[in-house]
Amino acid sequence: MTRGLFISFEGIDGAGKSTHIDRVAQRFREAGRAVVLTREPGGTPLSESLRELVLHQPMDALTEALLMFAARREHLVLVIEPALARGDVLLCDRFTDATFAYQGGGRAFDWQVLVQLERMVQIQPDGRLRQPDLTVWFDLDPHIAAQRLASARVPDKFESQPADFFAAVRAAYAKRQSEMPERIVRIDAAQSIEAVGSDVSRVVNEWLKRIGA
Ligand code: TYD
Repeated sequence: MTRGLFISFEGIDGAGKSTHIDRVAQRFREAGRAVVLTREPGGTPLSESLRELVLHQPMDALTEALLMFAARREHLVLVIEPALARGDVLLCDRFTDATFAYQGGGRAFDWQVLVQLERMVQIQPDGRLRQPDLTVWFDLDPHIAAQRLASARVPDKFESQPADFFAAVRAAYAKRQSEMPERIVRIDAAQSIEAVGSDVSRVVNEWLKRIGA
């Protein structure tokens, strides 16, 4: 049976990942793979309701972290695990690295508590943690991201945070990447959209070759 593939996409708000996720989905579909395109927080009716709350209501930092992981648990059980079991390609716009980056970095919430929640929520029957097989991290200077976002839309709770919040989010992504360099691949998102797109293709292709898929 075809092996399921779990790829997540990360980066600060304004780093421009959405366009590239759609292109990756298209390429897998053209190669004949079933693709599930999903996002966090969200991806199930309950998780989308939780998304509305966490993106628009002020709340205590632990409450925020718990709601992110509650949404994730539901998403894992109802969408992610079944898709991987079917052998689909599951492309997720953000996953747990975003919690380490935004709650752990941006909010300076206790990193070790996040590690505990991650264990609790992502544990599999064999005791291993469910993680993406590959994470593409769109790394961008927060000042450039802020310029890109300025004209884009009405900001949500996170998008309206000051530049130093995003500097901390970016630093936490870098810390995660240094802890898991095999899984998390950095892409320079300051380049042109074409250059970023070709980097994304290269990273995905090299990884597929490495795992023999
Ligand atoms: P985002 O993925 O950027 O969606 P959109 O493109 O529709 O704005 O928005 C999700 C926001 O949620 C983003 O600001 C990051 C934040 N977030 C967290 O703070 N923690 C998390 O664990 C996740 C998954 C997202």
